[in-house]
Amino acid sequence: MNYKETVKAGYNAIANRYLAERTRDSQDVLLLNDLIERLPVNASVLDAGCGAGVPISQMLSERFKVTGVDFSEAQIELAKKNVPNANFICQDMTKLDFPENSFDGICSYYAIIHIPREEHQSLLANFYKMLKPNGCVLLCLGAENLIDDIDENYLGTRMYWSHYDTDTYLKMLKDCNFSLIWSKYVGDASFDEGAGHLFVLVQKL
Ligand SMILES: C[S@@+](CC[C@H](N)C(=O)[O-])C[C@H]1O[C@@H](n2cnc3c(N)ncnc32)[C@H](O)[C@@H]1O
Repeated sequence: MNYKETVKAGYNAIANRYLAERTRDSQDVLLLNDLIERLPVNASVLDAGCGAGVPISQMLSERFKVTGVDFSEAQIELAKKNVPNANFICQDMTKLDFPENSFDGICSYYAIIHIPREEHQSLLANFYKMLKPNGCVLLCLGAENLIDDIDENYLGTRMYWSHYDTDTYLKMLKDCNFSLIWSKYVGDASFDEGAGHLFVLVQKL
């Protein structure tokens, strides 16, 4: 099975339905303020797996120069309408080829969990490369081990997840030379009790 095609087709199909679920005041989105406060005026920020751009790219674009990347055509189309002052690119985020030191900040909400986990170490290393010295990265990662998980009915479509556990991600980030500012477990009310994600804020010193 081509897992990435499953994810891309899934988000093309549910783009509007997923957007309807996103709000600005949830615990996960409030964490974005910690990244925002650490970025310089006119910072360049990458939103990797930006979806329809609401609320993450939108909040960032109120203060910064934002580049959003997503491989779902339907999501990128919505993002361009929702956040007209940002730049959006339709591409697989594991294939980004920005030069070294391109961004002051990078964030990624609920997207890395949909990428086959064997690709996560090189993805994090590429984030490190693209980040300027002193830049910060806010990531939503898996908190528990999950190998190639398929749900046949996620918001009405087939969907795929893949991730490591918290300790593995903290080690992977360290191996990339990131310095940890904080890590937090955020419960997810839309899933089973006990389900949640690891959020990390890290810096390139
Ligand atoms: C759950 S949505 C989150 C969207 C947005 N970050 C938010 O918080 O509302 C996950 C997004 O990641 C995108 N995505 C998943 N894997 C990707 C990949 N390899 N490259 C680019 N985008 C990807 C999907 O198309 C989808 O739009």
